[in-house]
Order: sequence, then C-alpha cells, then structure tokens
Amino acid sequence: MIQGRDVVTLDTFTPDEIRYAISRAHAMKAEGFGMPLQGRALAMVFFNPSLRTRASFAIAFSSLGGTVIDLTAERDIWNLELRDGAVMAGVAEEHVKDAARVLSEYADAIAIRSLARHDDWAMERRDLVLVSFQKHSSVPIFNMESVLEHPCQAWGDALTLEEEFGDLRGRKLALTWVYSPTARPLAVPHGAAIMAAKLGMNLTICHPEGYDLDHGVLDLVQRNAREHGGTVRFTSDLADAATGAHAVYAASWGATNLHGRPDEERLLRSRHTDRRITADLMAKTQSGRFLHAMPVRRNVEADDAVVDAPSSLVIRQAGNRLHIQRALFAEVLA
Ligand code: CP
Repeated sequence: MIQGRDVVTLDTFTPDEIRYAISRAHAMKAEGFGMPLQGRALAMVFFNPSLRTRASFAIAFSSLGGTVIDLTAERDIWNLELRDGAVMAGVAEEHVKDAARVLSEYADAIAIRSLARHDDWAMERRDLVLVSFQKHSSVPIFNMESVLEHPCQAWGDALTLEEEFGDLRGRKLALTWVYSPTARPLAVPHGAAIMAAKLGMNLTICHPEGYDLDHGVLDLVQRNAREHGGTVRFTSDLADAATGAHAVYAASWGATNLHGRPDEERLLRSRHTDRRITADLMAKTQSGRFLHAMPVRRNVEADDAVVDAPSSLVIRQAGNRLHIQRALFAEVLA
C-alpha cells in the first residue's frame, strides 16, 4: 500500500494508508516479524541530537535483518551546500546533490533529521535540507523530524492512542502549549495536529497569544478535519482545553513570527511560565491519558505526578516509536 514511498510529510498519506500501517504495527507487535530487510541498508543522517528517533530507527531496521549506518553532520560527513549552482568556495565541501546520490548507491533508504537553522521562518519552513535530500535521492526518504513535521512520531502517537481508544474518530485530543525555557521545534505539534485531523478526531489546539502553529500547516489541518469528519477549535485556556478531553498532548514550541529574534521570543515566553500540566488539570479530562513526545522537562512542562501517573502514556508512546517504525520500514521497503 505504501511500498517505495517517501515518509516525509503526512500530507501524502490517506487515512486508510495511515490506519493500514498502524494495523501492521499492531500485528507485528502481537505476532512478531521475520527478517524481511536482510541484505538491505539504511543511512541515517542527523543534523541535530536525538535519543528516541535514533534508537528506534536503528533498532527497528536492524531487527528486520537490515544494516544501519548512523552519520552525524559536522562530525561524520562534510559540510553540505544546498544551493543549486553555488560556487562552492566557502565552508561547504560537498553538495547535497552529491551526498544524496552517493548515499543512494549504498543504502535502500535515507533518513534525515534536520531542524531549524535560519533566522527567517519564511525561509525555514521550506525545509530545505530534507527537501534537497528528497529531490536528489533515488531511494525512499524518511523524515526523522524536520522543521515542519515529525511524521513517524505522529504515526507512533496514533498507534498509542488506538491501543487505548480503538477507532479515534470523534475522540477529543487537547494539544496544549506548555512552558519550556527554550523555544522547541514545531514539528511535533504540527504532526500531532495533522494526524488528529486525518483520523477524524475532535482536536483542541491551546496556546497563548503569539504561539500559533505555522499557517500552512493549520490550513492542512483544517482541510483534513473537514474531509475526514473531525473538528478543530482553538483556545488559550488550558482548563478549557483539558475539560472532557480523552487525552492531553503537551508540547512546547517557538513563536514563528519571532523566529530568529530570540530575545523577543524569550520575553514573550517568560510571560507563560505557569503553563504546566498538573494533576489538577488532568482531573478535568475524561481518562487522565497524558501524551508527550519527549524529552520532557519534568516539573516545568508537566509535573512528576502527571508524567509518572498510571494513566500517563509517555513511556509506551516512546516505545511505540519502535513498533510503528518496524511497520513503516517493512511496508515501504519489503
Ligand atoms: N520524540 C523524539 O523525536 O525524541 P528524540 O528527539 O530524542 O529523537
């Protein structure tokens, strides 16, 4: 169903395709799996740190019989030039066009993590590193979190929610901005919102003024909600968002219109240090289910009592990254 496809943005997958991969993950988790990727190779390139994505991708691929090479930018590979036609007299020793084509000779898939690196959100949202690899590679590309999206995280989140609630149509998800001392990427909340809309959930997006998600992603979320029977509403009130929700998904993210102006962004953020998920807040939900993509700043973003509560899903959510990744690799590459 998704054989040979890039897993770069959820926009390119239908709800049926998303549900199919989740059903494969359920089955592989319950029944086991063979070694369908024996003799195949995955090249991972990290431009930013990672614990869960790095470990789950590598273990998923190798447990299916494949070989993984893990490359960290600026340590293991040459500085990459992204501009077509550039006169490469600066610090970049290799063009992304060559890196992507050469890795395609060795590997059956390439996985990229590349977060924000420019000052201007209009430039940033073009996701140039990921898109350049996609343009020049001849093998499937997996997005391990980019500026705009973290599709494999969102896919694993949906697996976790399905395990709890079954069909997600009509379930209420509260996606809530929480305080963090640093401006975190937008890819996780973007992916969560797109996934919820595609699966027909009733989504509440809660954030203080100035922390809107990217306008293009919001358009995609609204369109998918309309097409697939979901709803989207916005509030700035945490208690309003949590009340009656089936699950609260906490995330912190930066203000796109202050991107590249860290002092102003920090000042705006500092007005919201009280935005933290507490046990009292979770008591307003239907079931106390709590999601966070991690890493989580304990007692800043969410209290220990929430993260460690029996109804918290965060560790299973992280664990399911492995199970959904096996399913995605098997379906795309086998
Ligand atoms: N959630 C997630 O992607 O974690 P890492 O940044 O540790 O990979």
